[in-house]
Amino acid sequence: SAEQTLILVKPDGVARGLTGEILRRIEAKGYAVTGLRMLSADRELLAAHYAEHAGKPFYEPLIDFMSSGPTVAIRAEGDRVIEGFRSLAGTTDPTAAAPGTIRGDLGRDWGLKVQQNLVHGSDSPESAARELALWFA
Ligand code: CMP
Repeated sequence: SAEQTLILVKPDGVARGLTGEILRRIEAKGYAVTGLRMLSADRELLAAHYAEHAGKPFYEPLIDFMSSGPTVAIRAEGDRVIEGFRSLAGTTDPTAAAPGTIRGDLGRDWGLKVQQNLVHGSDSPESAARELALWFA
């Protein structure tokens, strides 16, 4: 049955003008965009979103990066969309991500403490429900 996921075009993707290209890939794959919102995330939202990473060495740089500019939040829907979008996105490290993926085609390392990897996608139905409630409150 149809699933929903939260996708974020992170501040690097928005700043580079890749929002349209990323939405195009989601829609071209066949998923429906059922929610769309641009916002500058505050630290409270980001702390809730990234609670599982608190204390990791990249946590503070990650919160700084994610609060550095606007983010586009997307609710996408379709059968197995959680797995399907993660496949479209490619692996976390954009240098290593396979060509053909969003990160592999459009991302690279910029020598920073955080991986600026253009997009986020929920990793499970539980994460999707939690994250959609945060970003589409
Ligand atoms: P995301 O899917 O949003 O979840 C956590 C984010 O932290 C991840 O994408 C990257 O932007 C970043 N990240 C994860 N692992 C590392 C790492 N080892 N070093 C730097 N940044 C990381």
